[in-house]
Amino acid sequence: MKVLFVCLGNICRSPLAEALFLYHLNKQGLQSYFSADSCGTNGLHDGENADSRTRDNAKRHGIEINHISRKITEQDLADWDLIVVMDDSNYENVLKLNPNEEEVEKIVYLRDFDPEFEDDLDVPDPWFGGEEGFETVYNIIDRCILDLIDTIKPDLDELFPEGAPLTADD
Ligand code: 4NP
Repeated sequence: MKVLFVCLGNICRSPLAEALFLYHLNKQGLQSYFSADSCGTNGLHDGENADSRTRDNAKRHGIEINHISRKITEQDLADWDLIVVMDDSNYENVLKLNPNEEEVEKIVYLRDFDPEFEDDLDVPDPWFGGEEGFETVYNIIDRCILDLIDTIKPDLDELFPEGAPLTADD
């Protein structure tokens, strides 16, 4: 199963979501069933590493982020099984790529999987705020990723009745 994480700049939230997704899959021995990537809707940081504040904060939790920012394309809508957005504006921006009906159904909010969800579906953008914003965002994304994995895990038996593929793309 192929999972794409999407935010605005692809330097704060979605690269962290991608890294945490891969980290928890590895911990649970599920990595061979999945592939993951992340991208942004504005392309302003194409070719850049993730924001140093995001990387430093993740490192304090033992998570390495090695992603290089890229902009989402129309092809992504066809290529990925699940497209996970961080907030409303990401959702609206993905819709501007004119997904067909089947593609629209692949788009979900990360906070749809938040076990502590209250009333806001947005993962706040930490870009303009202080250090504590990065820690808050880390905690939101971490708990949502665990729930996302728990939610999509049961589909694996159906997708791979013979067991794990040799590579994520098989
Ligand atoms: P992200 O945060 O969407 O979580 O990567 C942002 C980073 C940079 C910008 C916007 C959002 N920016 O416009 O430069």
